[in-house]
Amino acid sequence: MTHLYFTGFDCLGCRTAYAPDQDLLLCPRCHHLLEARYDLARFGREVDRDALARRPAGVWRWRELLPVLDPTRIVTLGEGGTPFLRSERLARACGVRELWLKSDAANPTGSLKDRSITVSATKAMEFGYDVLSCASTGNKASSTAAYAARAGLRSVVFCPKDTPVPKMAQAVFFGARLIRVDGHYSQINAMYRKLIGSGRVKWYDCGTDNPFRYEGKKTYAYEIAQDLGWRVPDRVLHPCAGGMSLVKTWKGFNELRTLGWIDGLPKMTAVQAARCAPIVESWKKGLPRVEPVEKQPTIASAVAAADPGLLGDQTLAAVRASDGDGLAVEEAEILEAVRLLAQEGLMIEPSGAVTVAAVRRGVQDGLIDRGESVVCVLTGSGFKDFDRILDLVEIPRQIVSGYEAMLAEAERI
Ligand SMILES: Cc1ncc(COP(=O)(O)O)c(C=O)c1O
Ligand SMILES: [Zn+2]
Repeated sequence: MTHLYFTGFDCLGCRTAYAPDQDLLLCPRCHHLLEARYDLARFGREVDRDALARRPAGVWRWRELLPVLDPTRIVTLGEGGTPFLRSERLARACGVRELWLKSDAANPTGSLKDRSITVSATKAMEFGYDVLSCASTGNKASSTAAYAARAGLRSVVFCPKDTPVPKMAQAVFFGARLIRVDGHYSQINAMYRKLIGSGRVKWYDCGTDNPFRYEGKKTYAYEIAQDLGWRVPDRVLHPCAGGMSLVKTWKGFNELRTLGWIDGLPKMTAVQAARCAPIVESWKKGLPRVEPVEKQPTIASAVAAADPGLLGDQTLAAVRASDGDGLAVEEAEILEAVRLLAQEGLMIEPSGAVTVAAVRRGVQDGLIDRGESVVCVLTGSGFKDFDRILDLVEIPRQIVSGYEAMLAEAERI
Protein backbone atom coordinates (compact mmCIF):
# COMPACT_ATOMS: atom_id res chain seq x y z
CA MET A 1 0.00 0.00 0.00
CA THR A 2 1.66 3.21 -1.15
CA HIS A 3 0.35 5.41 1.63
CA LEU A 4 1.61 3.16 4.36
CA TYR A 5 4.54 4.62 6.26
CA PHE A 6 3.87 2.65 9.44
CA THR A 7 6.35 -0.22 9.29
CA GLY A 8 5.71 -2.12 12.54
CA PHE A 9 6.81 -2.16 16.15
CA ASP A 10 10.08 -2.50 18.05
CA CYS A 11 10.21 -3.82 21.59
CA LEU A 12 11.73 -1.30 23.99
CA GLY A 13 13.10 -4.23 26.04
CA CYS A 14 14.51 -6.99 23.80
CA ARG A 15 14.44 -4.91 20.54
CA THR A 16 12.48 -7.62 18.65
CA ALA A 17 10.85 -6.15 15.53
CA TYR A 18 7.21 -6.90 14.71
CA ALA A 19 5.31 -6.56 11.45
CA PRO A 20 2.67 -3.82 11.06
CA ASP A 21 -0.26 -6.21 10.64
CA GLN A 22 0.19 -8.06 13.95
CA ASP A 23 -2.35 -7.77 16.74
CA LEU A 24 -0.08 -6.81 19.64
CA LEU A 25 -0.16 -5.44 23.17
CA LEU A 26 3.10 -5.83 25.14
CA CYS A 27 6.07 -7.65 23.53
CA PRO A 28 5.06 -11.34 23.33
CA ARG A 29 8.66 -12.31 24.20
CA CYS A 30 9.63 -10.10 27.13
CA HIS A 31 6.41 -8.22 28.06
CA HIS A 32 7.99 -4.82 27.62
CA LEU A 33 6.35 -1.89 25.81
CA LEU A 34 6.30 -1.71 22.03
CA GLU A 35 7.12 1.38 20.02
CA ALA A 36 5.60 2.06 16.60
CA ARG A 37 8.04 2.71 13.77
CA TYR A 38 7.51 4.73 10.57
CA ASP A 39 9.44 5.31 7.39
CA LEU A 40 9.90 8.99 8.15
CA ALA A 41 12.50 9.46 5.42
CA ARG A 42 10.04 8.40 2.69
CA PHE A 43 7.18 10.27 4.38
CA GLY A 44 9.29 13.43 4.43
CA ARG A 45 10.03 13.08 0.69
CA GLU A 46 6.44 12.35 -0.32
CA VAL A 47 4.29 14.42 2.03
CA ASP A 48 4.37 18.18 2.37
CA ARG A 49 3.50 19.78 5.73
CA ASP A 50 1.53 22.57 4.08
CA ALA A 51 -0.58 20.04 2.18
CA LEU A 52 -1.41 18.34 5.49
CA ALA A 53 -2.43 21.69 6.95
CA ARG A 54 -5.12 22.03 4.28
CA ARG A 55 -6.88 18.84 5.39
CA PRO A 56 -9.72 19.02 7.94
CA ALA A 57 -8.33 19.57 11.43
CA GLY A 58 -8.14 16.64 13.84
CA VAL A 59 -6.23 13.51 14.73
CA TRP A 60 -6.71 11.94 11.28
CA ARG A 61 -5.15 14.89 9.50
CA TRP A 62 -1.95 13.06 10.42
CA ARG A 63 -3.10 9.58 9.35
CA GLU A 64 0.15 8.65 7.62
CA LEU A 65 1.88 8.93 11.01
CA LEU A 66 -0.63 6.69 12.77
CA PRO A 67 -0.46 2.88 12.90
CA VAL A 68 -3.47 2.02 10.77
CA LEU A 69 -3.46 -0.11 7.64
CA ASP A 70 -6.67 1.15 6.05
CA PRO A 71 -7.19 4.90 6.56
CA THR A 72 -10.57 4.73 4.79
CA ARG A 73 -12.15 2.76 7.63
CA ILE A 74 -11.36 4.83 10.67
CA VAL A 75 -13.68 5.14 13.67
CA THR A 76 -13.93 8.83 14.43
CA LEU A 77 -16.07 11.29 16.36
CA GLY A 78 -14.14 14.32 15.11
CA GLU A 79 -11.45 14.28 17.83
CA GLY A 80 -8.33 16.47 17.98
CA GLY A 81 -7.85 19.87 16.38
CA THR A 82 -8.72 21.31 19.78
CA PRO A 83 -8.46 25.02 20.72
CA PHE A 84 -5.01 26.49 21.19
CA LEU A 85 -5.38 29.75 23.07
CA ARG A 86 -2.88 32.35 24.19
CA SER A 87 -3.55 33.94 27.56
CA GLU A 88 -1.81 37.17 28.53
CA ARG A 89 -3.66 37.18 31.84
CA LEU A 90 -2.52 33.71 32.85
CA ALA A 91 1.01 34.45 31.68
CA ARG A 92 1.02 37.40 34.10
CA ALA A 93 -0.63 35.39 36.91
CA CYS A 94 1.92 32.59 36.51
CA GLY A 95 4.93 34.80 35.85
CA VAL A 96 6.02 33.69 32.36
CA ARG A 97 6.51 35.59 29.13
CA GLU A 98 4.15 33.56 26.95
CA LEU A 99 1.49 31.06 28.00
CA TRP A 100 -0.67 28.90 25.72
CA LEU A 101 -3.56 26.64 26.63
CA LYS A 102 -4.21 23.49 24.60
CA SER A 103 -7.74 22.57 25.60
CA ASP A 104 -8.54 18.92 25.07
CA ALA A 105 -11.73 19.46 27.04
CA ALA A 106 -13.12 20.27 23.59
CA ASN A 107 -12.83 16.66 22.43
CA PRO A 108 -16.04 14.73 21.67
CA THR A 109 -16.32 13.04 25.07
CA GLY A 110 -14.64 15.93 26.90
CA SER A 111 -11.15 14.59 27.48
CA LEU A 112 -7.77 13.83 25.91
CA LYS A 113 -8.65 10.12 25.75
CA ASP A 114 -10.47 10.55 22.45
CA ARG A 115 -7.15 11.22 20.70
CA SER A 116 -6.00 7.71 21.45
CA ILE A 117 -9.24 5.74 21.67
CA THR A 118 -10.09 6.69 18.07
CA VAL A 119 -6.96 4.75 17.08
CA SER A 120 -7.71 1.71 19.25
CA ALA A 121 -11.34 1.56 18.08
CA THR A 122 -10.07 1.65 14.49
CA LYS A 123 -7.64 -1.19 15.25
CA ALA A 124 -10.42 -3.23 16.91
CA MET A 125 -12.35 -3.02 13.64
CA GLU A 126 -9.25 -3.96 11.61
CA PHE A 127 -8.62 -6.98 13.81
CA GLY A 128 -12.29 -8.01 13.92
CA TYR A 129 -13.17 -7.64 17.63
CA ASP A 130 -16.70 -7.24 18.99
CA VAL A 131 -15.92 -5.67 22.36
CA LEU A 132 -13.67 -2.78 23.51
CA SER A 133 -12.47 -2.79 27.11
CA CYS A 134 -10.26 -0.91 29.56
CA ALA A 135 -9.59 -0.16 33.22
CA SER A 136 -9.86 3.55 33.85
CA THR A 137 -10.11 6.43 36.29
CA GLY A 138 -13.15 7.42 34.22
CA ASN A 139 -12.15 9.38 31.14
CA LYS A 140 -10.76 6.44 29.21
CA ALA A 141 -13.91 4.48 30.15
CA SER A 142 -16.31 7.07 28.77
CA SER A 143 -14.22 7.52 25.63
CA THR A 144 -14.00 3.76 25.06
CA ALA A 145 -17.77 3.49 25.46
CA ALA A 146 -18.42 6.31 22.98
CA TYR A 147 -16.12 4.95 20.28
CA ALA A 148 -17.51 1.44 20.75
CA ALA A 149 -20.98 2.87 20.21
CA ARG A 150 -19.80 4.75 17.12
CA ALA A 151 -18.25 1.57 15.71
CA GLY A 152 -21.28 -0.57 16.53
CA LEU A 153 -19.31 -2.61 19.08
CA ARG A 154 -19.94 -3.37 22.74
CA SER A 155 -17.78 -2.11 25.62
CA VAL A 156 -16.80 -3.25 29.11
CA VAL A 157 -15.07 -0.83 31.48
CA PHE A 158 -13.61 -1.28 34.97
CA CYS A 159 -13.43 1.78 37.22
CA PRO A 160 -12.57 2.49 40.85
CA LYS A 161 -15.76 2.53 42.86
CA ASP A 162 -15.36 6.23 43.73
CA THR A 163 -14.92 7.42 40.12
CA PRO A 164 -16.68 10.78 39.50
CA VAL A 165 -20.33 10.07 38.72
CA PRO A 166 -20.45 12.05 35.44
CA LYS A 167 -17.70 9.84 33.96
CA MET A 168 -19.47 6.64 35.00
CA ALA A 169 -22.80 8.01 33.78
CA GLN A 170 -21.26 8.92 30.44
CA ALA A 171 -19.86 5.41 29.96
CA VAL A 172 -23.19 3.80 30.83
CA PHE A 173 -25.04 6.33 28.66
CA PHE A 174 -22.99 5.15 25.68
CA GLY A 175 -23.96 1.57 26.45
CA ALA A 176 -20.91 0.29 28.33
CA ARG A 177 -21.09 -2.51 30.83
CA LEU A 178 -19.53 -0.66 33.79
CA ILE A 179 -17.90 -2.76 36.50
CA ARG A 180 -17.05 -0.74 39.62
CA VAL A 181 -14.19 -2.24 41.56
CA ASP A 182 -12.96 -1.81 45.10
CA GLY A 183 -9.42 -0.37 45.36
CA HIS A 184 -7.50 2.35 43.57
CA TYR A 185 -6.72 2.59 39.88
CA SER A 186 -3.26 0.95 39.80
CA GLN A 187 -4.58 -2.05 41.74
CA ILE A 188 -7.58 -2.41 39.47
CA ASN A 189 -5.48 -1.99 36.34
CA ALA A 190 -3.13 -4.77 37.49
CA MET A 191 -6.11 -7.14 37.92
CA TYR A 192 -7.58 -6.03 34.61
CA ARG A 193 -4.32 -6.76 32.77
CA LYS A 194 -4.23 -10.20 34.38
CA LEU A 195 -7.78 -10.79 33.15
CA ILE A 196 -6.92 -9.80 29.58
CA GLY A 197 -3.71 -11.83 29.73
CA SER A 198 -5.58 -14.92 30.96
CA GLY A 199 -7.18 -15.30 27.55
CA ARG A 200 -10.57 -15.91 29.23
CA VAL A 201 -12.12 -12.98 27.38
CA LYS A 202 -11.68 -11.91 23.74
CA TRP A 203 -11.98 -8.16 24.11
CA TYR A 204 -9.92 -5.50 22.42
CA ASP A 205 -7.82 -3.96 25.19
CA CYS A 206 -7.87 -0.16 24.93
CA GLY A 207 -5.80 0.14 28.08
CA THR A 208 -2.25 0.84 29.13
CA ASP A 209 -0.63 -1.99 27.17
CA ASN A 210 -1.98 -1.06 23.76
CA PRO A 211 0.85 0.31 21.56
CA PHE A 212 -1.47 1.34 18.70
CA ARG A 213 -3.66 3.49 20.90
CA TYR A 214 -0.83 5.54 22.32
CA GLU A 215 0.26 6.78 18.93
CA GLY A 216 -2.87 8.96 18.78
CA LYS A 217 -1.38 11.12 21.51
CA LYS A 218 1.50 12.25 19.32
CA THR A 219 -0.95 14.49 17.52
CA TYR A 220 -0.68 16.99 20.38
CA ALA A 221 2.82 17.79 19.18
CA TYR A 222 1.79 18.13 15.56
CA GLU A 223 -1.10 20.45 16.42
CA ILE A 224 0.90 22.64 18.79
CA ALA A 225 3.78 23.02 16.33
CA GLN A 226 1.46 23.72 13.43
CA ASP A 227 -0.61 26.25 15.40
CA LEU A 228 2.60 28.07 16.34
CA GLY A 229 3.63 28.27 12.68
CA TRP A 230 6.19 25.46 13.23
CA ARG A 231 7.85 27.36 16.05
CA VAL A 232 8.65 25.24 19.09
CA PRO A 233 7.56 26.38 22.56
CA ASP A 234 10.20 26.33 25.28
CA ARG A 235 8.14 23.98 27.43
CA VAL A 236 5.09 21.72 27.31
CA LEU A 237 3.45 20.74 30.60
CA HIS A 238 1.21 17.67 30.70
CA PRO A 239 -0.85 16.11 33.53
CA CYS A 240 0.51 12.59 34.09
CA ALA A 241 -1.06 9.40 35.37
CA GLY A 242 1.03 6.73 33.65
CA GLY A 243 2.62 9.50 31.61
CA MET A 244 2.16 8.03 28.15
CA SER A 245 0.52 11.20 26.84
CA LEU A 246 3.67 13.11 27.71
CA VAL A 247 5.92 10.39 26.27
CA LYS A 248 4.07 10.35 22.95
CA THR A 249 3.90 14.14 22.74
CA TRP A 250 7.67 14.05 23.09
CA LYS A 251 7.84 11.40 20.35
CA GLY A 252 5.70 13.61 18.11
CA PHE A 253 8.04 16.57 18.50
CA ASN A 254 11.02 14.33 17.79
CA GLU A 255 9.40 13.07 14.60
CA LEU A 256 8.79 16.63 13.46
CA ARG A 257 12.42 17.47 14.07
CA THR A 258 13.60 14.37 12.19
CA LEU A 259 11.41 15.53 9.31
CA GLY A 260 13.05 18.95 9.50
CA TRP A 261 9.63 20.60 10.06
CA ILE A 262 10.77 22.16 13.35
CA ASP A 263 14.28 23.03 14.47
CA GLY A 264 14.20 22.49 18.22
CA LEU A 265 12.48 20.52 20.95
CA PRO A 266 10.53 21.63 24.03
CA LYS A 267 11.31 20.70 27.61
CA MET A 268 8.63 18.23 28.74
CA THR A 269 7.27 18.77 32.23
CA ALA A 270 5.35 16.00 33.99
CA VAL A 271 2.73 17.33 36.38
CA GLN A 272 1.04 15.35 39.14
CA ALA A 273 -0.97 16.04 42.28
CA ALA A 274 1.38 16.10 45.28
CA ARG A 275 -0.90 13.56 46.98
CA CYS A 276 -0.09 10.95 44.36
CA ALA A 277 3.10 11.86 42.54
CA PRO A 278 5.25 8.77 41.98
CA ILE A 279 6.75 10.05 38.71
CA VAL A 280 7.61 13.47 40.09
CA GLU A 281 9.04 12.07 43.32
CA SER A 282 11.19 9.56 41.46
CA TRP A 283 12.36 12.30 39.09
CA LYS A 284 13.34 14.49 42.05
CA LYS A 285 15.29 11.61 43.60
CA GLY A 286 17.05 10.98 40.29
CA LEU A 287 15.86 7.37 40.13
CA PRO A 288 16.09 5.45 36.84
CA ARG A 289 12.68 3.81 37.47
CA VAL A 290 9.49 4.96 39.13
CA GLU A 291 8.94 3.89 42.71
CA PRO A 292 5.26 3.36 43.60
CA VAL A 293 3.76 5.57 46.31
CA GLU A 294 0.93 5.25 48.82
CA LYS A 295 -1.97 7.03 47.19
CA GLN A 296 -3.64 9.78 49.22
CA PRO A 297 -7.08 10.99 48.13
CA THR A 298 -6.82 13.91 45.69
CA ILE A 299 -9.21 16.09 43.73
CA ALA A 300 -7.08 15.23 40.70
CA SER A 301 -8.47 11.68 40.70
CA ALA A 302 -7.97 11.10 36.97
CA VAL A 303 -4.19 11.37 37.22
CA ALA A 304 -3.75 9.48 40.49
CA ALA A 305 -1.82 6.36 39.46
CA ALA A 306 0.18 5.19 42.47
CA ASP A 307 2.17 2.62 40.49
CA PRO A 308 2.59 3.61 36.84
CA GLY A 309 5.06 0.77 36.15
CA LEU A 310 6.80 0.62 32.77
CA LEU A 311 4.89 3.65 31.50
CA GLY A 312 6.22 5.71 34.38
CA ASP A 313 9.78 4.66 33.55
CA GLN A 314 9.31 5.83 29.98
CA THR A 315 7.96 9.12 31.28
CA LEU A 316 11.03 9.66 33.44
CA ALA A 317 13.20 8.94 30.42
CA ALA A 318 11.31 11.44 28.23
CA VAL A 319 11.44 14.14 30.91
CA ARG A 320 15.20 13.62 31.24
CA ALA A 321 15.87 13.43 27.51
CA SER A 322 14.03 16.72 27.03
CA ASP A 323 15.86 18.41 29.91
CA GLY A 324 12.43 18.90 31.48
CA ASP A 325 11.08 18.69 34.99
CA GLY A 326 8.64 16.99 37.27
CA LEU A 327 6.29 19.20 39.26
CA ALA A 328 3.84 18.23 41.98
CA VAL A 329 1.05 20.60 43.01
CA GLU A 330 -1.02 20.81 46.17
CA GLU A 331 -4.81 20.57 46.28
CA ALA A 332 -5.27 24.30 46.96
CA GLU A 333 -3.02 25.18 44.03
CA ILE A 334 -5.07 22.93 41.74
CA LEU A 335 -8.34 24.58 42.79
CA GLU A 336 -6.80 28.00 42.24
CA ALA A 337 -5.84 26.90 38.71
CA VAL A 338 -9.42 25.79 38.06
CA ARG A 339 -10.58 29.25 39.18
CA LEU A 340 -8.00 31.03 37.04
CA LEU A 341 -9.15 29.04 34.02
CA ALA A 342 -12.75 30.02 34.76
CA GLN A 343 -11.62 33.63 34.30
CA GLU A 344 -10.56 32.65 30.79
CA GLY A 345 -13.96 31.10 30.04
CA LEU A 346 -12.66 27.56 30.37
CA MET A 347 -14.23 24.93 32.61
CA ILE A 348 -11.58 22.30 33.23
CA GLU A 349 -11.68 19.39 35.66
CA PRO A 350 -9.05 19.58 38.45
CA SER A 351 -6.97 16.72 36.96
CA GLY A 352 -6.83 18.56 33.68
CA ALA A 353 -5.92 21.92 35.20
CA VAL A 354 -2.82 20.88 37.16
CA THR A 355 -0.53 22.21 34.43
CA VAL A 356 -1.53 25.82 35.11
CA ALA A 357 -0.89 25.32 38.83
CA ALA A 358 2.48 23.82 37.91
CA VAL A 359 3.64 26.84 35.88
CA ARG A 360 3.09 29.07 38.90
CA ARG A 361 4.86 26.64 41.19
CA GLY A 362 7.68 26.06 38.74
CA VAL A 363 8.35 29.78 38.41
CA GLN A 364 8.24 30.25 42.19
CA ASP A 365 10.65 27.33 42.68
CA GLY A 366 13.00 28.58 39.98
CA LEU A 367 12.50 25.54 37.74
CA ILE A 368 10.73 27.54 35.05
CA ASP A 369 12.38 30.66 33.70
CA ARG A 370 10.24 33.82 33.49
CA GLY A 371 11.36 34.33 29.90
CA GLU A 372 9.90 31.05 28.69
CA SER A 373 7.01 30.36 26.34
CA VAL A 374 5.01 27.52 27.87
CA VAL A 375 2.12 25.35 26.73
CA CYS A 376 -0.24 23.98 29.37
CA VAL A 377 -2.19 20.99 28.13
CA LEU A 378 -5.68 20.97 29.67
CA THR A 379 -6.95 17.44 29.51
CA GLY A 380 -10.56 17.20 30.69
CA SER A 381 -13.76 19.21 30.87
CA GLY A 382 -15.22 20.45 34.15
CA PHE A 383 -18.42 18.60 33.22
CA LYS A 384 -16.49 15.39 33.79
CA ASP A 385 -16.02 16.10 37.50
CA PHE A 386 -18.95 18.40 37.97
CA ASP A 387 -19.22 18.10 41.76
CA ARG A 388 -15.86 19.88 41.99
CA ILE A 389 -17.23 22.77 39.96
CA LEU A 390 -20.36 22.91 42.12
CA ASP A 391 -18.10 23.13 45.19
CA LEU A 392 -16.67 26.35 43.77
CA VAL A 393 -19.91 28.20 43.12
CA GLU A 394 -22.92 29.37 45.03
CA ILE A 395 -26.14 29.35 43.07
CA PRO A 396 -28.49 32.07 44.39
CA ARG A 397 -31.32 30.67 46.46
CA GLN A 398 -33.48 33.76 46.14
CA ILE A 399 -36.10 33.77 43.37
CA VAL A 400 -37.43 37.10 42.16
CA SER A 401 -40.86 37.44 40.71
CA GLY A 402 -42.11 39.98 38.18
CA TYR A 403 -40.60 42.93 36.30
CA GLU A 404 -40.41 45.32 39.28
CA ALA A 405 -38.39 42.81 41.29
CA MET A 406 -36.07 42.19 38.33
CA LEU A 407 -35.58 45.92 37.93
CA ALA A 408 -34.85 46.32 41.63
CA GLU A 409 -32.23 43.58 41.44
CA ALA A 410 -30.72 45.08 38.30
CA GLU A 411 -30.36 48.48 39.93
CA ARG A 412 -28.54 46.94 42.86
CA ILE A 413 -25.77 45.55 40.60
C1 LIG B 1 -7.90 14.34 32.68
C2 LIG B 1 -6.68 13.48 32.46
N1 LIG B 1 -5.50 14.07 32.26
C3 LIG B 1 -4.38 13.36 32.07
C4 LIG B 1 -4.38 11.97 32.08
C5 LIG B 1 -3.05 11.29 31.99
O1 LIG B 1 -2.84 10.42 30.99
P1 LIG B 1 -1.56 9.47 31.01
O2 LIG B 1 -2.02 8.17 31.62
O3 LIG B 1 -1.19 9.37 29.58
O4 LIG B 1 -0.49 10.08 31.83
C6 LIG B 1 -5.58 11.30 32.27
C7 LIG B 1 -5.63 9.84 32.32
O5 LIG B 1 -6.57 9.23 32.78
C8 LIG B 1 -6.78 12.08 32.45
O6 LIG B 1 -7.97 11.48 32.63
ZN1 LIG C 1 10.61 -7.71 24.01
